Amino acid sequence: MMLHIPAVLTKQQVAQIRHQLDHSHAWVSGQDSAGAQAQKIKSNLQIDVHSAIYQTLHPILSQAIQKNTLIRSATLAKHVLTPMFNCYQSLGAYGNHVDSAIQFSSDAGQAIRTDVSITVFLSEPHEYEGGELIIEDHYGSHEVKLDAGDAIIYPATSLHRVEPVTQGKRIASFTWMQSMVKDDWQRSMLFNLDMTILKLRQQLGDSEEVLNLTHHYHNLLRQWADL
Ligand code: NI
Repeated sequence: MMLHIPAVLTKQQVAQIRHQLDHSHAWVSGQDSAGAQAQKIKSNLQIDVHSAIYQTLHPILSQAIQKNTLIRSATLAKHVLTPMFNCYQSLGAYGNHVDSAIQFSSDAGQAIRTDVSITVFLSEPHEYEGGELIIEDHYGSHEVKLDAGDAIIYPATSLHRVEPVTQGKRIASFTWMQSMVKDDWQRSMLFNLDMTILKLRQQLGDSEEVLNLTHHYHNLLRQWADL
């Protein structure tokens, strides 16, 4: 399931983060964190994870991602990896790839499976040309370019790429989550059910039918969740 999450960060948060990133000397080549295959197709900059600015900024993203109710419902996250920051400019791009399946989480102190990818846009669309995130799924390919502060979540199993940025700078934050529900289709059914219950509750209050559906949601989650 691909889902656009509006306003994960407020415009004020975006401005504060951008002010720091735009003046930072902690940008390093994205090649440093790429595997042998990715090195050939990846051309961008990332904030050095050992830098002071990184230590200041990543908690803002982590908190925004973890407290967002839409993201919680859609991802059913068990672990969220520490978000990172990247910048594409001067024809920088990242060719078609699938992200690594397993990553080490220093927070969790263990390896985690990347089930869901998230990109939080930190540049407004008018600040750059190109730079679309293209995500391929069963239904074709989708072009994503969102307002600063908005995010896209998508299955980490998808083939995706970032088109060359021909003008300006495309700055974003990105990370991965391990979900309690590994299967994307099961996650998406739970999400649809959850959203439908939410709307029904607004219309009908806690009627017996709404409560029954809620029980059904929890029993499905019990069936499918691994902890
Ligand atoms: Ni990727």
